[in-house]
Amino acid sequence: MSAPAYDRMGVSYSDVRRADPRFEAAIWEALGDARTVLNIGAGAGSYEPTDREVIAVEPSPVMIAQRPAGSAPAIQGVTESIPLGDESVEATMGVFTMQHWDDLNRGLAEVLRVTRKRIVFLTLDLDVTEHMWLCRDYLPEIIEHDRNAFPTIAHLRAILPNVQVETVPVPADCTDGFLVALWSRPEAHLDPNVRRASSTWHRLSPTVVENGLDRLRHDLDSGEWDRRYGDLRTQTTLDVGLRLVKAELH
Ligand SMILES: C[S@@+](CC[C@H](N)C(=O)[O-])C[C@H]1O[C@@H](n2cnc3c(N)ncnc32)[C@H](O)[C@@H]1O
Repeated sequence: MSAPAYDRMGVSYSDVRRADPRFEAAIWEALGDARTVLNIGAGAGSYEPTDREVIAVEPSPVMIAQRPAGSAPAIQGVTESIPLGDESVEATMGVFTMQHWDDLNRGLAEVLRVTRKRIVFLTLDLDVTEHMWLCRDYLPEIIEHDRNAFPTIAHLRAILPNVQVETVPVPADCTDGFLVALWSRPEAHLDPNVRRASSTWHRLSPTVVENGLDRLRHDLDSGEWDRRYGDLRTQTTLDVGLRLVKAELH
């Protein structure tokens, strides 16, 4: 799923997908001493540092149009052909984007070409995500689809040099409403506006989505969801597979 998809989805994106300050702090720290940063698949500009020189590359004009006034400059483009010279930035960051690329390996090769010091990705490890209740008990089709889209951590380790992987616990009050971030807010998945801002819902067939949501609605009404998972409502963080992947190039 790439730019045309985000041209449709992107319309409500920045209402539901607001950068979470805890993830932001982790990304900025991982960028280290880099003074120039490429944000690849930058979307509306979430998580871009404000204290460094940033250049954003993003295919969707609808997403670019949602960048707040005063944001770093954005170039319309794709990772498979980054419109920048060799080693032209000290660091590249990419947040929730790799699963959308048309050609993952080509995109990673391009990121390696333009970056001098380090690469930072925020992504999901599906081996962990698959155990989250929504994926395991209501819509296993989510993981079936996402397995073809997300790179495994092993694949990233094979392609990128000196990789470190950090678990990023997701807070219950996470402001970035990506699918599994709503682990303690099951009712949120019943809201079409919330679903519109997560690409997973667009990838599944309408019948699969309706069946899964009907079962969730039923279990919420009957109290079954709370009997099984009610403890989550008072838990403060959960590991749903969110991972900060950092590669040191030199
Ligand atoms: C889930 S959004 C994440 C946006 C932003 N990084 C954020 O954290 O809010 C995924 C982004 O990847 C972009 N994208 C899709 N295909 C791409 C490609 N081939 N190269 C670069 N970005 C791409 C989409 O247009 C979309 O803006």
